[in-house]
Amino acid sequence: MMNTLVIVVTGTNRGVGKGIVQLLARQQLEQPLTIYATSRSGADTGIQASSTNVIKYGKLDITDQTSIQSFLQSVLKEHSAIDVLINNAAVSNDYRETPEYAEETIRNNYGGTKNMCELFLPNMSRKPWSRIVNVVSGYNQLSKYGLEIQEKFRAVKTISDIDALGESYLGAAKQGQDAQKAGGWGSGARSYKVSKALILAMTMLLAKQNPEIMINCCCPGWVDTAMGHQAKGTPPKTPEEGARIPVRLAVGDLGVNGDEDGGLGKESERISGKFFENDSIISTEWGKSKLWLET
Ligand SMILES: NC(=O)c1ccc[n+]([C@@H]2O[C@H](COP(=O)([O-])OP(=O)(O)OC[C@H]3O[C@@H](n4cnc5c(N)ncnc54)[C@H](OP(=O)(O)O)[C@@H]3O)[C@@H](O)[C@H]2O)c1
Repeated sequence: MMNTLVIVVTGTNRGVGKGIVQLLARQQLEQPLTIYATSRSGADTGIQASSTNVIKYGKLDITDQTSIQSFLQSVLKEHSAIDVLINNAAVSNDYRETPEYAEETIRNNYGGTKNMCELFLPNMSRKPWSRIVNVVSGYNQLSKYGLEIQEKFRAVKTISDIDALGESYLGAAKQGQDAQKAGGWGSGARSYKVSKALILAMTMLLAKQNPEIMINCCCPGWVDTAMGHQAKGTPPKTPEEGARIPVRLAVGDLGVNGDEDGGLGKESERISGKFFENDSIISTEWGKSKLWLET
């Protein structure tokens, strides 16, 4: 039997994560896919896979290293390594921001995604198609931060540098709005955006440190999910439309040839450390590569 491509996706019980599993499950690529659809509850969402692909449901809480290890060991009993990891799970507490919720958002989104990357990296297959996809947010230009913070993001050399940025933001947020603004973090609810900026910085760093794996991140656009409804108005994209860019980064052509239709299943140029999004958050296209540190 042909080797399957082993793909792990987080936060798949609803929203964009469920859309990612639906879109992947339908593909009939040269290699069959084994898709591990994980969530805190381990829910089976009843998605139908094409005849070549298999979906397996698993329990996984990205904030809990024991939960991640136990899931990982169960996969490694069946496969020698993981080919693709899609870190989709996240919370947004912006609508009820307090220092406590800010801390929960940073620990869950950045801390959880970091846990996943650190524990999965030694178990990634490192074949030419081995990839990590981190789902972030496009509403997150570096230019929205003070010059000193921008400089610190550009100067990141280690994970500890990124941890320190997160702690510095939380320290300022605890002191209140004036301290947060004076510290260069911007005003109002910022924890969701900061959590995603930290993941963007981590994506660039891990891509440099692991040249044999393609590690990229993307914004799904404005999607009709619980989180999408936190913004005013009606989110225009379905979860499957929101899944297009993450799925392209997982199994598609990352070169400009994939900009039009994702180039799913086609061989890709080796592109890593990039942020992909569409020109507009309502666009259903397959994403374009951008350099976040220049935004
Ligand atoms: N929707 C948009 O317009 C939009 C825009 C930009 C970026 N995004 C990004 O797209 C991704 C998916 O968002 P969404 O819109 O689908 O949000 P959503 O509807 O709120 O779903 C979030 C998912 O993440 C899971 N999750 C949260 N914390 C977790 C944890 N510790 N361990 C495991 N799973 C966890 C949730 O599981 P539970 O059900 O257990 O809570 C849920 O499955 C996120 O990274 C988000 O930041 C979304």
